[in-house]
Amino acid sequence: AALLALVKGMPKAELHIHIEGSLEPELIFALARRNGVTLPYDSVEQLRRAYAFNDLQSFLDIYYAGTSVLLTEQDFYDMTWAYLQRAHADNIRHTELFFDPQSHLSRGVNFAAIVGGIDRALGDAADEWGMTSGLIMCFLRHLSEEDAFATLEQAMPYLPAIVGVGLDSSERDHPPEKFSRVFARCRELGLRLVAHAGEEGPPAYIRDALDLLHVARIDHGVRCLEDPALVELLRARQVPLTVCPLSNVKLKVFPQMAQHNLRALLDAGLMVTINSDDPAYFGGYLNENFAEIFTALPLGRDHALRLACNSFDAAFLDDATKAAYR
Ligand code: HPA
Ligand code: ZN
Repeated sequence: AALLALVKGMPKAELHIHIEGSLEPELIFALARRNGVTLPYDSVEQLRRAYAFNDLQSFLDIYYAGTSVLLTEQDFYDMTWAYLQRAHADNIRHTELFFDPQSHLSRGVNFAAIVGGIDRALGDAADEWGMTSGLIMCFLRHLSEEDAFATLEQAMPYLPAIVGVGLDSSERDHPPEKFSRVFARCRELGLRLVAHAGEEGPPAYIRDALDLLHVARIDHGVRCLEDPALVELLRARQVPLTVCPLSNVKLKVFPQMAQHNLRALLDAGLMVTINSDDPAYFGGYLNENFAEIFTALPLGRDHALRLACNSFDAAFLDDATKAAYR
């Protein structure tokens, strides 16, 4: 109990949260009503009951359906502000949010509404609590590289509000190499780079994200343990892995929390962080992720402090700000 109190109370950063994955069923229904959008679910309870996933794709289908209620700048503000209040309650001092512009642009929502609403909420969190943040634009890997380039073009006026780019959506059969040219362009533009890899996809995708995309962090990366040479590379370079325990159990990457490999990743000397991924869909925000993994695995006070330090060390912050947080 003392350990869980320490874990929940300690200052931390979150580095892997899809802001669209923080949309709670209640807010989905409220926004649907406000915008006159018809949902294929009769009630909040019925929608919540649909949250029984077999794998990544079965989750993504429902996650993209949920985003259909987001139309206006105020909608993006309200979604982000709801997340930031939860983050503040979990003593998150710095957060880096993913957003999926392609899933909104394709519905006729413009970039100004998306980035404007999210950025206004981040500004309010800075004013209210001194929370720092970064915004990471993800390309949907099931779409073409051409579509990613077109999205980058539309993002150009908003790059001052965007710290980096990432790669998400269906991992299998959409390898990192598909996006090597657009990531090279983003690198030239001075953007920081991350990619989802080794969640459902093979360890080779982690290696390719490093070698072909030149990412600074790997999102998930839990399947790296299948390749000892890769583990040694990740350890030597201290490449951060943004691990999401509740997500991994809900999407059946591991059958139960007790089978999660987070302790093994730490024991291998890897730069591990804990994150919530899509908290409205996976049953908990950041502190619930910490509480569940610390309850299921043999982890102690030293692990807790290490994970909190790693979360700031792996962040896209300058060294002075990192040092102040540590
Ligand atoms: N993996 C891939 N794509 C996603 C995820 C995830 O966990 N969450 C939202 N988009
Ligand atoms: Zn993710």
